[in-house]
Amino acid sequence: MMSRTAYAIMIVFLLFIQQVISGCSTTVTKSLQKDNMHKTEVDLVSRNLYQSKCVLCHELPKINEYTSDEWTSIIDYTHDTKAARKFITIEEAEKIKSYLKSM
Ligand code: HEC
Repeated sequence: MMSRTAYAIMIVFLLFIQQVISGCSTTVTKSLQKDNMHKTEVDLVSRNLYQSKCVLCHELPKINEYTSDEWTSIIDYTHDTKAARKFITIEEAEKIKSYLKSM
């Protein structure tokens, strides 16, 4: 037979463990949600850039017409010119690149 004290200690201990476990899982879910939200925001910004910058000289290319690697070289080589720089900064080009790669 367990004594009352041992019983009480065990209950307190179990409550404590439960707190720790639920505490951890909420933190993890929260940070996952934050990451997802952040990712969506970034995607939207990049998509906007793509849709507004890449139509300035020609029609907006279809995203699925090229592979990720092709996109990277198109933006790196085809558009690494003074003319293109006037319209698209390096930072913007990087954002568009990762957007196109993720699509
Ligand atoms: C400064 C004007 C300009 C801007 C801004 C511009 N392009 Fe272009 N783009 C061109 C020209 C000019 C060509 C034709 C190049 C050639 O001779 O193949 C071209 C060609 C392309 C092609 C076809 C490449 C091929 O191999 O045939 C793709 C795809 C393309 N651009 C994507 C983009 C994307 C994505 C953006 C936004 C990051 C963009 N362009 C922004 C001028 C521009």
